[in-house]
Amino acid sequence: MKLHKAAKLQGIITVPGDKSISHRSVMFASLAKGTSEITGFLEGADCLSTIECFHKMGISIEMKKGSGRVLVHGKGLHGLSAPSATLDAGNSGTTTRLISGILAAQNFTSRLTGDASIQKRPMKRIIDPLSQMGADISSESANGCAPLVIRGMPLHGIDYTTKTASAQVKSAILLAGLYADGVTKVTEPYVSRNHSEIMLHLFGADLSTDGTTAIIRPGNPLYARHIHVPGDISSAAYFIAAAAIVPNSEILIRNVGINPTRDGVLKAAKAMGADITLENIRTDCGEPAADLLVRSSSLCGTQIGGSIIPSLIDELPVIAVMAAFANGCTVIRDAAELKVKESDRIAVMVENLQAMGCDIEATDDGMIIRGGNPLHGAVIHSYGDHRIAMSFAVAALMAEGETQILESECVDISYPGFYGDLQSLR
Ligand code: S3P
Repeated sequence: MKLHKAAKLQGIITVPGDKSISHRSVMFASLAKGTSEITGFLEGADCLSTIECFHKMGISIEMKKGSGRVLVHGKGLHGLSAPSATLDAGNSGTTTRLISGILAAQNFTSRLTGDASIQKRPMKRIIDPLSQMGADISSESANGCAPLVIRGMPLHGIDYTTKTASAQVKSAILLAGLYADGVTKVTEPYVSRNHSEIMLHLFGADLSTDGTTAIIRPGNPLYARHIHVPGDISSAAYFIAAAAIVPNSEILIRNVGINPTRDGVLKAAKAMGADITLENIRTDCGEPAADLLVRSSSLCGTQIGGSIIPSLIDELPVIAVMAAFANGCTVIRDAAELKVKESDRIAVMVENLQAMGCDIEATDDGMIIRGGNPLHGAVIHSYGDHRIAMSFAVAALMAEGETQILESECVDISYPGFYGDLQSLR
């Protein structure tokens, strides 16, 4: 993909459905009794991997391509059958980790793997707590990564405290807890995204929260629901950043999920001086959403760290791009998790922003960006990481000359049609 500088951005846009909520809707609906209708579903490659995994376990799922509407004919908590073949999570960490919690409790053995990136991502973080519950999970290459072989076992409830806030780890444990012989509690240092808690409750699970602890009591069956998925704030973040940095811009982004465990990008952007107005705030299926009006403004550097990190972890690459165009220094701390995402997002952001002429350095747990200098186009290595490709499509809008993004098609993982939507605002 080749991109050039933009004079201004203007228009109205609707981003695709939230990736985290779309995954969960298919998983929980598969475990519920009856037919669930999902609307606003994200038809990105990651969520299609989740659908394919449940297909292989005997769940009938209907989707008319391009409609965002999915019908899941759930068979209840004990309705899955042994997969017909290896389960393939593709590029999706959410699929791999959440499904592991479900598979750990089934009365069959399954093999779960994914692409080259997934096979490098740490799974010990779910293997350890699930093993404490009685699960039998082995990493085939004995390196703590997928392929995983999961032999279903009877599970017991645990009281588990995580060192790092992770919704994927928390959700894997809660899903295993649906099948355990007693109460399961997960306590995190900070609350990570709580879509599992909201949606499990909606489907009828006995799920409660107390501060940073989520508690699940097994025994309740899950029942089919209508789930409406709001637009993904992680996808909206590219347009928020783009409208903020390109002078004379004004865009409206419709129907964006603004769950407080996900809205750190709004807080960080506002702290940098971004002009963002929330309109038409409403709640659907327990998830708040709004329309976002974003106008360009002059940005300044900021400090980002501590409890806000889980609420903007996926947006840090594009926040780093905003920081490159902000006056002054931006320091990002407590974000070592970036190193184990779809790529090492600290190393990859530093490499690519430096290639564009930005003054940026990596730290052990984040980045220091001295912004405000003009950037020039460059060849960007996305390493097949969708969030890196989209972040640099935004940077390109303010760079002199041409920016070329390699493996640019990886945006299909979370945002098919991204480049067209960006182009429509020029
Ligand atoms: C996700 C949780 C986050 C996030 C990922 C999606 C989820 O990962 O980075 O893109 O849907 O639960 P961690 O929970 O590992 O931080």
